[in-house]
Amino acid sequence: MSQPERTLVLVKPDGVERGLTGEILARIERKGYTIVELLMLNATHQMLAEHYEEHEGKEFFEPLVNFMASGPLVAAVIEGERVIEGIRALAGISDPTLAEPGTIRGDYGRDWGEGVQKNLIHASDSTLSAEREIEIWFG
Ligand code: TYD
Ligand code: MG
Repeated sequence: MSQPERTLVLVKPDGVERGLTGEILARIERKGYTIVELLMLNATHQMLAEHYEEHEGKEFFEPLVNFMASGPLVAAVIEGERVIEGIRALAGISDPTLAEPGTIRGDYGRDWGEGVQKNLIHASDSTLSAEREIEIWFG
């Protein structure tokens, strides 16, 4: 039998600004996962650079960090069996224009003329990133 695992979710500043925090967290809860930690904060550039360290040096890195620091975001630790894969599936692919309808990004996201950075939600992509990211936001 598999053990329950944990993942890190961020409702990005666009999700908070558009009043979609409750909707996004509700979808996660209705799927059957449990919110075990939750907080709203204004992230520092330092936290965000660490969070997105795999993307350092890419052309979208600076605009991404600036956007993520532009307003409050909501950080959560979510628990459940295979929750890492489960929330990635619920979120949809990175580009909200092309994300499947039925997913969070597909249902609420679009291109606002600034690339794909405003895609409402971050979710860890592996057990290693989940552990690393939970430490950044809740360590
Ligand atoms: P990535 O880790 O590839 O996507 P995901 O959030 O689905 O794991 O990229 C991190 C974020 O960076 C992504 O959510 C949106 C932004 N981004 C861009 O702005 N431009 C890009 O070309 C890519 C790939 C990502
Ligand atoms: Mg990623």
